Amino acid sequence: MKTVLITGGNSGIGKATAHALAAQGFRVFIAARDMEKSRAALAEISAAVPGAQLLALKLDLGDLDQVRAFAEDFRQRVPVLDVLILNAGLFPLGKHLTAQGFEQQFGVNHLGHFLLTNLLLDTVKAAEQGRVVIVSSIMHWLGRINVGSFRGEKFYNPIVAYGQSKLANVLFMMELARRLEGTGVRVNALHPGGVDTGIARDLPKIAQKIYAMSTVTAEKGAESSIFLAAAPEAQAFHGEFVRNCKPMRTSPLAKQATAEKLWQLSEEMTGCRY
Ligand SMILES: NC(=O)c1ccc[n+]([C@@H]2O[C@H](COP(=O)([O-])OP(=O)(O)OC[C@H]3O[C@@H](n4cnc5c(N)ncnc54)[C@H](OP(=O)(O)O)[C@@H]3O)[C@@H](O)[C@H]2O)c1
Repeated sequence: MKTVLITGGNSGIGKATAHALAAQGFRVFIAARDMEKSRAALAEISAAVPGAQLLALKLDLGDLDQVRAFAEDFRQRVPVLDVLILNAGLFPLGKHLTAQGFEQQFGVNHLGHFLLTNLLLDTVKAAEQGRVVIVSSIMHWLGRINVGSFRGEKFYNPIVAYGQSKLANVLFMMELARRLEGTGVRVNALHPGGVDTGIARDLPKIAQKIYAMSTVTAEKGAESSIFLAAAPEAQAFHGEFVRNCKPMRTSPLAKQATAEKLWQLSEEMTGCRY
């Protein structure tokens, strides 16, 4: 039985991914902050997939100490991890800082995942065909890496911050894929589409309504995550940015040199060198 860990697996795209992979026979771990929501999600999936092996774990990606403790505990429980899905994400309208003082979107969407992945990488390498799947967004095209904004120093624009965090997801994927070349582990990122989930909950009601007019269901939005996590054909994908299960272009700002620089800075910010 294969094992998958899905961050943010208690709602939206992550929950739909957890459901589909449980139905395919995966042992599924979901990791998020709100345990009540996580337990409700698991109850819903269990009812639909009798015999599913599911477990909810508490994780706040906005606290690097918690990420370290989580990874330590997880490595004890799961020495071989077939699939790691970095799905959790947020898009707050207001500026917030993480426990270590990073701007929240950069800190949670990128930095927490960077640390988690590095701490769990040995368990993914131990799998026969390990995979890392990173849920980014087409919004990464709006992002640029601005080192001077990592701690929220600059004027905060939520869309610019979201774009930066999602570009960081793509750059992280590129450099991780390069580093894992020849190991058998597959690393890819994706855009799920515009999906009807809680991600836009901070937007004014009217903006939410307009956004909802062009969205797809969470089940549809989860298709590329499920494909990259589990499809035999996806074994041929490595270092790709995927939409609708097909490779697509990344922003011209997604350059290898920027990816290497961000990796080095992320090592310094998290104090973690793989
Ligand atoms: N919906 C879209 O149209 C869309 C489009 C492009 C990309 N995406 C990406 O898709 C991913 C999933 O988002 P969604 O649309 O499914 O939104 P969602 O329903 O709001 O789900 C977000 C998930 O992230 C978790 N999360 C948030 N902050 C966290 C933290 N500090 N630590 C751990 N977990 C945290 C949440 O759980 P807790 O609150 O319990 O922590 C929740 O499970 C995100 O990366 C998002 O950027 C979404």
